[in-house]
Amino acid sequence: MEQLQNKKILIVDDSPMQLQQLCHLLEKHNYEVAAASGVVEALGMMEQVSPAVVISDIIMQDMDGFELCRRLKADSRYKPIPVVLYTVLADPRDVLRGLECGADNFMAKSYGEENLVVMIEQLLVRKSDSDGNIPPQGFEITFNGETYFITSTTQRSIDFLLSTYEVAVQMNRKLIKTQDDLKRVNSYMEGEVHRYRRHLEKLVEDRTEQIHLLNDQLLGLAEEARQASRAKSEFIANISHELRTPLNSILGFAQVLEAEYYGALGEKQKEYTGYILEAGQHLLSLINDILDLSKIEAGSMELSLVKVDIAGILEHAMILLKEKATAHSIHFRLEASPLLPDTIEGDERKIKQVIFNLLSNAFKFTPDNGEIVLSASVDNTGGQVEISVTDTGMGIPEQYREKLFSPFTQVDSSKAGTGLGLHLCKKMVNLWGGKIDVVSPPEGAARGCRFYFTIPLPGE
Ligand SMILES: Nc1ncnc2c1ncn2[C@@H]1O[C@H](COP(=O)(O)OP(=O)(O)OP(=O)(O)O)[C@@H](O)[C@H]1O
Ligand SMILES: [Mg+2]
Repeated sequence: MEQLQNKKILIVDDSPMQLQQLCHLLEKHNYEVAAASGVVEALGMMEQVSPAVVISDIIMQDMDGFELCRRLKADSRYKPIPVVLYTVLADPRDVLRGLECGADNFMAKSYGEENLVVMIEQLLVRKSDSDGNIPPQGFEITFNGETYFITSTTQRSIDFLLSTYEVAVQMNRKLIKTQDDLKRVNSYMEGEVHRYRRHLEKLVEDRTEQIHLLNDQLLGLAEEARQASRAKSEFIANISHELRTPLNSILGFAQVLEAEYYGALGEKQKEYTGYILEAGQHLLSLINDILDLSKIEAGSMELSLVKVDIAGILEHAMILLKEKATAHSIHFRLEASPLLPDTIEGDERKIKQVIFNLLSNAFKFTPDNGEIVLSASVDNTGGQVEISVTDTGMGIPEQYREKLFSPFTQVDSSKAGTGLGLHLCKKMVNLWGGKIDVVSPPEGAARGCRFYFTIPLPGE
């Protein structure tokens, strides 16, 4: 009777948190609790605490719970005290080890509070019943190649196995509940994923529709812009053409006047006729440039290829500008390589136009007594002809070199011109796949510049 009053419980666990949780729980149910953080400490406390039940963790740092149980059961003073091992029941061998060491009960780590209290109460009652039982002979069990020697009484073994079964049932219940929870979470997540996917698909659909719409608008705008640009170029081409007809009449009649076919002119009349001719020529070249530009922009400028006598073109240019060079004491010479082919395939009018533009710039920007060299050569591989115009003029500052070939670009606007010449040259050279550029000052020179362009020769 006195023993039934003893509600002292010794808890053995090396995890302080688990220890504290269990202590707190049992104290709540009016048990007197003592705590030990390892097997050695527990053994040392046994005599003084004299517990009615020992609850021990299995895996601990100094010794395991089986060893504690074995030692308690081997000591006649503590043998009757029920030992409960608490476990996660991960290894079936634990059951046999539990039986072997004479443990009284298993308890799941996940045991509910109520179950725990019921189990302890049963143990307290059973302890008093089994006190004084005569120890059995013992028997051997072999499991997985290992032999276990069981000395527990039949009653205790059955109790122990029942408690094991209960732990397993508890764990199974928990497992089933977890599975149910998982299923619920899973179906919720599936719903969410489905909803999210629909949302994304809708977003993509909307965006795609918007992009199609914008694309259509853009295409429409681009077509409008193309039409407007074509209309502008056609308009400029027509206007230029219309301007040339009366301008040719003005020039023609001015030339007739200058030639004095219909009577001699006075001093002033001659001077003014000269002005009309000069301004008319300038206007004509401007109109020609604008016409070319509009043709290029409208994409209607094409190459008309013929056999071109390059050396002949160069000599003709020399003859045309000889007088101008003499008038300004400019040393004007031609350097044509003897390796130049007799003829090349090219657009004669455009090649002449590029050479003339470069020469007219050289004359415009080279002061009196300077030097201008027109040269032509074939490159080492025989792949292209290079034509260049080198002068000793003012040269081109570095910062202008890149935009020089853009329309209406002039370094110095004090000289006559519109800044279209080089732009047209580049467009024409590009048409036949050549290159045009400038080196300023030319290699080995102190001043001036060298403009060059290339005409590719057909491969072997
Ligand atoms: N040989 C050169 N020496 C120095 N500057 C040059 C030379 N050639 C061209 N330039 C510079 O490049 C600018 C652009 O030349 P480009 O031939 O395009 O136009 P332009 O001669 O001014 O006018 P346009 O040729 O339309 O009558 C010139 O205004 C000039 O500043
Ligand atoms: Mg020019």
